[in-house]
Amino acid sequence: MKTAIIDLTYLLSAVLFIFGLKRMQSPVTARTGNALASLGMLVAVVATLFLYEILSWPLMIAGVVLGGAIGVALARTVEMTAMPELVAIFNGFGGLASTLVAGAELAQYVGGGRLVDPEGFGIVSALTISLSILIGTVTFSGSVVANGKLSGWVTGTPISFPGLRVLTGLLLLGAGGALGTMLAAAPGFPAVPGAMIWAAVGLGGAAFLLGILLVIPIGGADMPVVVSLLNSYSGLAAAATGFVLDNTALIVSGTLVGAAGMILTVLMCDAMNRSLANVMLGGFGGGDGGGGGLDVPEGKSVNETSPDDTAILARYADSVIIVPGYGLAVAQAQHEVREMADRLEAQGVTVKYAIHPVAGRMPGHMNVLLAEANVDYEKLYELEEINSEFKSTDLAIVVGANDVVNPAARTDEGSPIYGMPILNVDEAETVVVIKRSLSPGYSGVPNELFYADNTKMLFSDAKEAVAGITESVKKMEEA
Ligand code: TAP
Repeated sequence: MKTAIIDLTYLLSAVLFIFGLKRMQSPVTARTGNALASLGMLVAVVATLFLYEILSWPLMIAGVVLGGAIGVALARTVEMTAMPELVAIFNGFGGLASTLVAGAELAQYVGGGRLVDPEGFGIVSALTISLSILIGTVTFSGSVVANGKLSGWVTGTPISFPGLRVLTGLLLLGAGGALGTMLAAAPGFPAVPGAMIWAAVGLGGAAFLLGILLVIPIGGADMPVVVSLLNSYSGLAAAATGFVLDNTALIVSGTLVGAAGMILTVLMCDAMNRSLANVMLGGFGGGDGGGGGLDVPEGKSVNETSPDDTAILARYADSVIIVPGYGLAVAQAQHEVREMADRLEAQGVTVKYAIHPVAGRMPGHMNVLLAEANVDYEKLYELEEINSEFKSTDLAIVVGANDVVNPAARTDEGSPIYGMPILNVDEAETVVVIKRSLSPGYSGVPNELFYADNTKMLFSDAKEAVAGITESVKKMEEA
């Protein structure tokens, strides 16, 4: 009876996970999707803890309340720009949990714990436990380094040293050897625990160092891709732990996380036109660009503009497309952008937003920022939907975007970003680019758009510039 209730409860949570994921496909339904998936996890946790009576009731309730309170506090206080580092550390804890559970399971066999049958130990148990330890520990140490690179306590510059690849290779071999030893020791275990326990400790140690060495050579700006990959690993580690514990809910949720994380990683790489190998080998992205001055290269010139002149252009345009980028997030200019759009719309101007899939530094970065400022989802257009409209648009206002509007991706075969799909802002009648300098963006590739005849550069912090434009439009209305 108890088993039937558990199975039905796990089925319910699996259904909730799948409906939750499905609803995350659109920003309109994403919130309820998140709530459904969280409910699915709560149902699974409660069912496992209470129906198996693993711990005493007060201890279980205290754990759920304490863990829930920490999660709520973190989610409420974290800045939107710090979300990737929070996700990184959550992934790390997921990996660590898988390792600890696998280790505890091994210890229980040795100690003859009440939940396991020593007779039942075999090659399959050894394999699932070792995979949990390997993937879980790589995820843990890799995620801690990724968190460090994103929050600045580990340098964002790729770290390398002679022999790094050889050392990584040796550690991989060592991990493989430890895993093989665990499998070989399985038939004699748990009666003769020595080789198995030492191999598990060795595997954990090698995996810990591997996680660090795999992430340190990657530049800070590539960390969102690494975090997404580690998210996928944390799912795989959880699924392996699900097999260790024979827990269906963990197998289903781990597999969903593993697959979703891998799909997201591939989509991010595709949108940057880079392979995963290129990201993992530290292709580019040591920093965030920036720091450049206003020096115009020889033989080129820029047309500068001001908030007042941009306001005149925008006020008398029929159509304006706003292109947000990473600089919008840095400047936190989303509310000012919305106010500017509202003012222009009130004057009869059609305003749309063009969203590039990798604008900013995390998936959906621009959508989340604009949603925070209550911009209507209907006004956000994806690259494929809006690219043909630039030709018939009077004014494109680029707010802190750079790589995602760089025409070199279309024209310069030698450029590292050649082939990356971009927003064709250069086809608009006039383009105003708001940024502080002529410095390149994340890819480090110079942008010819800044020197084009139909481009005007508004050198300023995005928040100040956009607020200035809105102020001028307001004055024009009052005049
Ligand atoms: P970037 O190409 O990085 O350019 C952002 C620009 O914002 C910079 O050139 C910078 O110029 C400007 N900026 C910074 N602070 C500003 C401020 N306070 N006010 C105004 N401007 C400011 O950004 P993008 O066009 O959004 O492209 C994103 C890049 O990140 C792509 O190369 C993409 O492949 C990469 N990437 C994205 C993701 C995801 S999932 N979104 C993940 C990994 C990598 P100044 O310094 O001159 O102001």
